[in-house]
Amino acid sequence: MTAIIPAAGKGTRFLPVTRVVPKEMLPIGSKPAIHCIVDEAIAAGADDLVVVISGEKEIIRRYFDGEPSLNGRIRFVLQKEQRGLGHAVLQAAEGIAGPVLILLGDALVTGPNPSREMVAVSRANGGASVIGLERVPKEKVGRYGIVAVERSQASLEAGGIARIVDLVEKPAPCSAPSDLAIAGRYLLDPGIFGLLATQSPGHGGEIQLTDAIRRLLATKPVYGYVYPGRRQDIGNPQGYLKALEAFDENGRS
Ligand code: UTP
Repeated sequence: MTAIIPAAGKGTRFLPVTRVVPKEMLPIGSKPAIHCIVDEAIAAGADDLVVVISGEKEIIRRYFDGEPSLNGRIRFVLQKEQRGLGHAVLQAAEGIAGPVLILLGDALVTGPNPSREMVAVSRANGGASVIGLERVPKEKVGRYGIVAVERSQASLEAGGIARIVDLVEKPAPCSAPSDLAIAGRYLLDPGIFGLLATQSPGHGGEIQLTDAIRRLLATKPVYGYVYPGRRQDIGNPQGYLKALEAFDENGRS
């Protein structure tokens, strides 16, 4: 399994500090947030890691150069133009033939290691793709990718699993298929790269990972896993402050 950590985004919601400090490098205790995410991926069984950075974020590469335990397991690829999450993931495609674990560089999740749980869900379902989900308030669905699931979503409790039947990026609240939001972790079939390579721009004119997963659904099963914990979006100051409350000085929740 290869883990991809997209960390090339502009970070406009966290200006002005992100003019010089990437949001992924903000400290959670003594570690940058992205180090907590790397630890999560390794604990979930990732053999190799690919971090997607932009030209302004070389500091992330420099940070991990000082971490000899990762030598030979971590590589960095450049996303030269910020054309969206799907485009960032595509930059990491070279040489990957097995399952792909994608962990957003600005998303931390409290509770049991979400990536490890998703690997277990995949194994129990014949190696199927799995997406991490969290419930969000109905009026906020327009900020997220939202899924429709096969089972009655009302019965889908924290820790629950259901087959996904549709996905839509940032729907209007009146047309959203549920209140289950895609929340920062994906375990995907490597077929996703072929789909991303032919994906046309979607919401906001960006190449959306959600749109490519929607096409993956047509040929392969995709399951949703509702985290027992909470996703903390450190891409904005409020979310970051909440994350500081939720994690200890060692970056554990
Ligand atoms: P966001 O949606 O938070 O976008 O990306 P952003 O550009 O980083 O932040 P804002 O909206 O300007 O504040 C979610 C994740 O995808 C990565 C980001 O680094 C983040 O981890 N990403 C996004 C890329 O790597 N490349 C992109 O083109 C867009």
